[in-house]
Amino acid sequence: MQRLGGRSEIRSKAKTKEIGLAYDLIYSLGSAPVFGPRHRPEAEELIRHIDERHRTLLDVGCGEGQNLVFLARGTNGTLSITGIDPSRIAISRAAKRARENGVTATLIRGDSRHKRLGTFDVVASFFVMHHIPHPEAFVCNIVDHLSPGGLLALAYYLNAHAKRESAVVKEADLRSHLLGNGWEELHYAERNLAGGNNAYDMTALLIARRG
Ligand SMILES: C[S@@+](CC[C@H](N)C(=O)[O-])C[C@H]1O[C@@H](n2cnc3c(N)ncnc32)[C@H](O)[C@@H]1O
Repeated sequence: MQRLGGRSEIRSKAKTKEIGLAYDLIYSLGSAPVFGPRHRPEAEELIRHIDERHRTLLDVGCGEGQNLVFLARGTNGTLSITGIDPSRIAISRAAKRARENGVTATLIRGDSRHKRLGTFDVVASFFVMHHIPHPEAFVCNIVDHLSPGGLLALAYYLNAHAKRESAVVKEADLRSHLLGNGWEELHYAERNLAGGNNAYDMTALLIARRG
């Protein structure tokens, strides 16, 4: 997949602050929790694939922490959890949620595309990619954070980039781009949330093991 470089990298760094501020606005205007009080059903699917071999998990774009708290509790504290999000408000709410649920998590404010946080046995990202003008760089960064044999869980809107020229990899092509080299697909499902054909109607969840 195409990597970031040159002008597009400079542009995307400039966007980092804007994304954080835009999301701060969304989180401060909406009544908390903005994306619903519960974890996503996609996190429930992911947890079925996690076993005792998995020790560390990174939630990219963790928002207010519903999913990471669910994943930590559902695995009885055996996972060391890290969450990253550019919104200050999201990170502070995620920290509060983790505390209130007795979950220990490392929460980092930042844009995942510009962070190297080491490698993790599980890397999850639920409904973040649609914000990113160059989703291929976002996905490359996620994959770089995954240990060999680790689990990738990516939930996304299937048509969000379909009409954007900036996206080299469209969501519909993501599986074939990702799964070419030694990946094992464990789960793939599409859901039509609203019964229509808009960018945010169709979602997909891909869970795959890196070779
Ligand atoms: C629609 S919310 C989803 C939050 C959470 N994952 C969920 O499932 O409820 C998208 C989140 O992605 C975060 N985000 C946007 N761009 C990001 C980036 N480059 N790196 C990490 N997180 C990002 C936003 O701040 C926001 O909290």
